[in-house]
Amino acid sequence: MYRDPVESLEPLHHRQAAIRTLRVGMIGIGTVGSGTFRVLARNRADIAARAGRSIELVMVAARNLERAAGIVGDSVALTADPMQVATHPDVDVVVEVAGGTGPARDWVLAAIAHGKHVVTANKALLAVHGTEIFAAAREKGVIVAYEGAVAVSIPIIKALREGLAANRIEWVAGIINGTTNFILSKMRDEGLDFAAALAQAQALGYAEADPSFDIEGIDAAHKLTLLAANAFGMPLRFADAQVEGITALQGMDVACAEQLGYRIKLLGVARRQAAGVELRVQPVLVPAAHLMAQVNGSMNAVMVKSDAAGLTMYYGAGAGSEQTASAVIADLVDVARLDGVHAAQHVPHLGVHAHATNALAVLPRAAVHTSHYLRVPVHAVNQIQAIAASLAEQKVPVRQVALAAERPGMSPQVLVLTGQVEQGTLDLAVHALQARSEVAAPVTTLRVESLEG
Ligand code: HSE
Repeated sequence: MYRDPVESLEPLHHRQAAIRTLRVGMIGIGTVGSGTFRVLARNRADIAARAGRSIELVMVAARNLERAAGIVGDSVALTADPMQVATHPDVDVVVEVAGGTGPARDWVLAAIAHGKHVVTANKALLAVHGTEIFAAAREKGVIVAYEGAVAVSIPIIKALREGLAANRIEWVAGIINGTTNFILSKMRDEGLDFAAALAQAQALGYAEADPSFDIEGIDAAHKLTLLAANAFGMPLRFADAQVEGITALQGMDVACAEQLGYRIKLLGVARRQAAGVELRVQPVLVPAAHLMAQVNGSMNAVMVKSDAAGLTMYYGAGAGSEQTASAVIADLVDVARLDGVHAAQHVPHLGVHAHATNALAVLPRAAVHTSHYLRVPVHAVNQIQAIAASLAEQKVPVRQVALAAERPGMSPQVLVLTGQVEQGTLDLAVHALQARSEVAAPVTTLRVESLEG
């Protein structure tokens, strides 16, 4: 039946008047939590205008209540018990920014069970328990949003879920840990040693509570797991990722890579192949002229190769208090706008459907196909040809062979760039090389990423 549009506006008007403030309970008020409080207060009116209603912090759980009161004042209820925030009837959405995987899982599941939406920047929690948490959220029809968990200031989850929703994603590759990128940049540009650069990153609030998560590549692998779930609709398979950090990286390889026209970056790569998905975090060589090589300090960048949009790249701060708050609040705005109507859209993977759960296997290390950099210490410069010949014999295509610039007190070093080869073939060839009499010390290998569309 025909309805007068003027008539139909009436109930809408009433509905809008009835939309009330979104009441936020926050667990944790450290670097990210205090940034979220500040930005919410500073930009209150603009945020409310964009969200269509006010967003108000009503309760905070903190370990140190005195310190928390110093940050939020007396307008916010304080508790030492996170479970109170997770279950309180006056809280509509729980922001979990305490970190960790054990208790945080219980709080988030409790919040979901009580019908509350959850916003979190906790990548470890989601990478490890995400499949369970997203299934619970879907069941309850609530949102678990996590833009702040991946490359903090860059809206990469929204880019994958919304901007690129039309595309089949082929690969995602990125510098997704600010701390390690900061350390690599400081070591290269200022000659700082590893420990001093890490101490600076910690002082600036970039590093995880346990910085081994950063320097061992674990934090980047948590984020890569979330990116892959969004890109390929696969469950969260953190346990299957290949993870290598920067602790074993030698300054000499940074210099040799430069000599060959490359720069070393800690990269997360998730690539769709016919047989499954590559999921790996490693220090790799990227061409020095490539945009990715220009990403320095604590900045992050993510490239996405998709079938319709082609190659796209996203750049922004990868760590920091208000930088993460920006993403956390964007998720709160999403919650305020949607309020559960489209909660299922926020489940990043299709794991809740049996047919999709096992569709994409994570490929084993041996199956990954890339080019490689090899640094081979030898006894004499004239052994360079023997090294190249040995690799060719083992079916490794050799693209470039050079001698590293001489270094006092060091044996000559043969540098090799290979063509594309399976990791399994390369591992066998390196094993054979290592046994040769010309080779004076352990061979160093790193992957080379062309990052071409
Ligand atoms: N420790 C993380 C990093 C913080 O350095 O990238 C942001 O997730």
